[in-house]
Amino acid sequence: MRLTAMLPEPLSVCYLVCTGTEANDLALRLARDHTGSREIIVVDHAYHGHSPSLVEISPYKCEGPGGEGLADHARKVGLPDSYRGPHRGADAGGLYAAEVKRAVEKTVTAGRRVGALMAESLIGCGGQVEPPDGYFVDAYAAVREAGGVCIADEVQVGFGRVGSHFWAFEPQGVVPDIVTLGKPIGNGHPLAAVVTTPEIAASFQTGMEYFNTFGGNPVSCAVGLAVLEVMEREQLQDHALEMGERLLEGLRELQSRHELVGDVRGRGLFIGVELVTDHETLAPAAAEAADIIEGLKDRGFLVSTDGPLHNVLKIKPPMVLQADDIDSLLTNLDEVLAEVG
Ligand SMILES: Cc1ncc(COP(=O)(O)O)c(C=O)c1O
Repeated sequence: MRLTAMLPEPLSVCYLVCTGTEANDLALRLARDHTGSREIIVVDHAYHGHSPSLVEISPYKCEGPGGEGLADHARKVGLPDSYRGPHRGADAGGLYAAEVKRAVEKTVTAGRRVGALMAESLIGCGGQVEPPDGYFVDAYAAVREAGGVCIADEVQVGFGRVGSHFWAFEPQGVVPDIVTLGKPIGNGHPLAAVVTTPEIAASFQTGMEYFNTFGGNPVSCAVGLAVLEVMEREQLQDHALEMGERLLEGLRELQSRHELVGDVRGRGLFIGVELVTDHETLAPAAAEAADIIEGLKDRGFLVSTDGPLHNVLKIKPPMVLQADDIDSLLTNLDEVLAEVG
């Protein structure tokens, strides 16, 4: 199949579904059938979907307004954020992964079997955070040693957006056991997918058929193939790399002139600009961030805020944007930063 050929071995079994939520919900079912456990480790502030099964393990929702708290079978680990989090040095990856190891140990000590780790390869709602080097290598090892499986949620970050690679887990040096795909896979059309190993897929053969009326319908498949063809023909992954470098460079230049800009981070066209009122304390500039996105909207640029403190400008533009668009965004952001700052 065209899609599985783009993923590393042993990720070769694909289920086509309609939304990112359906993909992650199915990933949970695969993990449960394979490990015999519902226990799940998630990252603080993560969002994985809108169904009950996912809201209750998405801290972004279940611990936010109207939420009922994390499910009993879920454990949360800290955001591996080397700008604001407790670990910021060269050893940050290992130190954050040690939290995953502790969550695994607590699960075992509680007499429960380890199920899965579900994490975005680059963290979106948590504030455009790229986990430090080695984080996933160590975290995956801890989960697998205890018999668990590793699920990479690539719903936001897959499909060439990170530029250097087609999948965002690749620069992390890991191969997940289950990968979930959504959003860009259909370029606006409701299409999503789960890709896993033959071994995990075999565990899912319980006798209960997986039935999904619209999953994998011919129109959606044609859309998915067209997206892949256009991406290849127009070399959109390379384009994301080139445009992302231009944007990051421009944002770093703005950082050198605007006190409000604390951190500029990202990969390809998945970028975060964290705003602070104090570079020592990192006091979040949430009100200023809100004013900036309003100012940009008035000028025709749609940017949102994200992160636990609502102070990260989330820049995730359409992959077809051109150098002119970037230069125009930078000019306008420069002016809005000057007004708000
Ligand atoms: C990381 C991530 N996973 C899953 C989902 C759920 O996808 P959908 O809205 O297509 O159900 C989203 C949606 O925003 C997401 O950002």
